[in-house]
Amino acid sequence: MSRPPLRQTSRTTAEVIRAVTRRFQRAKLHYGHGTETPQDEAAWLVSHVLRIAPNRLAQRLDKPVTPSRIKIIDALASERIKTHKPLAYLLKEAWFAGRPFYVDERVIVPRSLTGEFILECFQPWIDAKRVSRILDLCTGSGCMAIACAQAFPKARVEAADVSIEALAVARLNIKRHRLGRRVQLLRSDLFQALKGKRYDVIATNPPYVTRAEMKSLPREYRYEPELALISGRDGLDAIKRILAEAPEHLTFGGILVGEVGNSAITLQKKFPSVPFVWLTTSTGDESVFLLTAEELQRHHDAFTRAG
Ligand SMILES: C[S@@+](CC[C@H](N)C(=O)[O-])C[C@H]1O[C@@H](n2cnc3c(N)ncnc32)[C@H](O)[C@@H]1O
Repeated sequence: MSRPPLRQTSRTTAEVIRAVTRRFQRAKLHYGHGTETPQDEAAWLVSHVLRIAPNRLAQRLDKPVTPSRIKIIDALASERIKTHKPLAYLLKEAWFAGRPFYVDERVIVPRSLTGEFILECFQPWIDAKRVSRILDLCTGSGCMAIACAQAFPKARVEAADVSIEALAVARLNIKRHRLGRRVQLLRSDLFQALKGKRYDVIATNPPYVTRAEMKSLPREYRYEPELALISGRDGLDAIKRILAEAPEHLTFGGILVGEVGNSAITLQKKFPSVPFVWLTTSTGDESVFLLTAEELQRHHDAFTRAG
């Protein structure tokens, strides 16, 4: 059955958002790549085409949208529905920690819950004033490294990834945010190329999906690089290596902040004696852990045996 197109006469922003929302609802899309609901996704699409930050959309809900813009919105909505491609890839843009980032299929769509804790400068876990070196391990689009550089204006940030394609995208974002002097990109298989380097904060959102889980994920996830998602049979291959090697790369009093999504339960079960601090996001999620350099050192044998 063909879908009813949006009427291409002048309509208010609110009306256009409602029309796109209805189309998305009927299409039964999957959300989770920057938005959680059809309405939020419609609002994001419309704000992008109107070239306004999503958080400013409320101020222009009663303003008219021109027919030519409605046509563009309609075409993008149709493509989202037809392909199930995440909207960020269609727009070549995603929002993270309140800022826009360039994205394409070489990187996952930024959505890390760690963003909330970066904005809070990881309080109360570290004295923000003493943070001078930060590592974003598995940087992808560079979103966490850039958010860290903005949250800690005096710190130098290194951003590492094994994927040359991802690093090329991160480079574009560093340039976009004019942080070339403070954010350095490195190609590294986890800590391999970082020998001898120490950081006050290591933040990481590594791959953590199991191969079995990957098969059951909605179509939207198939557009993302497998390297960014899958991490062995239990989803913990990368994080186990990170836990084993992190103490060598943290300063005294430093912290490791790691995101493990649904693998949080498996991780805690694997290391029952480790006092992971599960940070709670504003939506109640607990999939980001924090460990101090001292705790990582104390449990080093357990991590090395598993890594
Ligand atoms: C879940 S994505 C996170 C990207 C970004 N930090 C974010 O939050 O949007 C994981 C990233 O880890 C990278 N990666 C996978 N295996 C790696 C490895 N062994 N060493 C370094 N990076 C790796 C992938 O290329 C991907 O960019």
